[in-house]
Amino acid sequence: MSKAPSSRKSTRTKGATNIVAERKSRPLPRLETPTFLSSQATDEIAAALTALLADSFALYLKTKNFHWHVSGPHFRDYHLMFDEQAAEIFAMSDPLAERARKVGGTTLRSIGHIGRLQRLLDNDAGYVEPADMLAELMEDNKQLAAFMRQTHDLCDEYDDVATESLLEEFIDQTEKRVWFLFEASRGMQTSGH
Ligand SMILES: [Fe+2]
Repeated sequence: MSKAPSSRKSTRTKGATNIVAERKSRPLPRLETPTFLSSQATDEIAAALTALLADSFALYLKTKNFHWHVSGPHFRDYHLMFDEQAAEIFAMSDPLAERARKVGGTTLRSIGHIGRLQRLLDNDAGYVEPADMLAELMEDNKQLAAFMRQTHDLCDEYDDVATESLLEEFIDQTEKRVWFLFEASRGMQTSGH
């Protein structure tokens, strides 16, 4: 059963809304691809996927940042875990971008484009306590999983089962990262910064 159009508003994000406006203002006939979706569905799903892609790049770089700058007695454990998680996050990028193209939309074009769409925040601090790194990455991954669920709901409204399937796999991976970060941070005190 189809839902009222107003229910879709909750699944739209600020970043996604920006890219929908961007696409509508600039038709790209040379980049059109075949799709079973309506033009509205294409706009909304491609925008949501592109916002997820921007968040994935932001989280990838933060995770690498912490991999490079972690310090202390658990250095080896955290250094290696952050690298594993960064590789997993990076591996989501190509399928997300190509899915946006497969549904008839366009996607990221530059680092500047990421900066305009990302919802997860950067951390440019000169020093971050290891416990704070774990806590921040755990919250970011939780947030990313929540954004993925919103996009999954949007795809469900348009019967885009392939994007839903892709996201289900990525949600599972993201929840695994949350689990590992949670277990690694048990009993640690964060600085509260
Ligand atoms: Fe490395």
